[in-house]
Amino acid sequence: MISADPDEPIHVLDLPQIHTKPSGTELIQALSLLTTKPRSFGLKAPEAVRAQAVHPAGIARYLTSIISSPLAWLDTEELREAVWDAAAARLSERSGRTAMPAMSRVFMIPTSHGEEYTLTLHEPSLTSDNLGMKTWVSSYLLSIRLHSLLESPPQLVPTATTTPQLHPERTLRALELGAGTGLVGLSFAALRGPSASIHLTDLPAIVPNLAHNAALNVELLNRTGATVTTGVLDWSVPPTPLPTPAEQYDLILAADPLYSPNHPKWLVDTVTHWLSRGLNARVVVEMPLRDAYLPQVQDFRQRMGQLGLAVVDEGEEVGYDDWESADGGALEVRCWWSVWGWSEKL
Ligand SMILES: C[S@@+](CC[C@H](N)C(=O)[O-])C[C@H]1O[C@@H](n2cnc3c(N)ncnc32)[C@H](O)[C@@H]1O
Repeated sequence: MISADPDEPIHVLDLPQIHTKPSGTELIQALSLLTTKPRSFGLKAPEAVRAQAVHPAGIARYLTSIISSPLAWLDTEELREAVWDAAAARLSERSGRTAMPAMSRVFMIPTSHGEEYTLTLHEPSLTSDNLGMKTWVSSYLLSIRLHSLLESPPQLVPTATTTPQLHPERTLRALELGAGTGLVGLSFAALRGPSASIHLTDLPAIVPNLAHNAALNVELLNRTGATVTTGVLDWSVPPTPLPTPAEQYDLILAADPLYSPNHPKWLVDTVTHWLSRGLNARVVVEMPLRDAYLPQVQDFRQRMGQLGLAVVDEGEEVGYDDWESADGGALEVRCWWSVWGWSEKL
């Protein structure tokens, strides 16, 4: 129910509540009211779409109630995903992941030899709920940690036990899942140079900007002898035919990949298909430990364990969302990084 007076802010309790099993359309409409970006953005007649304000009290709890609900009464998985994505985007915006106009950001990535690599990433405006159009804090933290992870053999260094019979000379094959703007994968590519190749993947809507960002950094990638490809890889779609051992990857990277209840299962299924069974095969992930997503993090850990993977190394660290913003609005975010390998072979 919306207040009759559009100048009066409404309360979050006036929005459709999960226990009443509202339709997908009602939920998406309510979630669009909670957007923090200007409602008139990009429109010629802003007054035509002026939105009612919502009292801030209780909004985070409202969004969490949607994210943690299975939404079982909605007709299709697509609708459920759309609602979860919109709720996750609203929560992200309130956590400092503010929607901003298109911009290019510059990131300095430390190397093991003291030099810093400079990466430029284009971030289109967050015009829809495509979270992959922005670069998130855990991907930055993982990128600046990569050089030390890459330097601690045997953690990320393939040995002859990694598919030795097929390609004794081959370079390390890496895959990034949910690469977004590509910060982690492009950093990895530059840091490893000719000793690795990496395939950066995401959903179809995200891949064009991902490819654009690979092209934007071609000078650095050429200088370091990196090999980067980009493409679509949707975790919810099992690959057919299943990848052969030669097609599987020695290393899988992912940053901030969990924000809907389906994600842990999909992500671990994807790891199942694409991770090499070699002794030194590794999965490296970093994700924020936000209250709303802790069940997903726990689910992910359990599923990785059930698959036969164990944590080789892990830690927690703090970063800041929108760390380049000068408005003082940056929020502290606790993040968890982890390196996984096959447990029976450790
Ligand atoms: C929060 S963003 C993180 C992006 C990037 N890794 C970073 O940290 O900056 C989550 C990413 O996962 C991707 N994603 C979500 N669901 C996916 C799916 N089913 N298959 C592949 N990628 C997916 C999104 O498109 C998005 O790029």
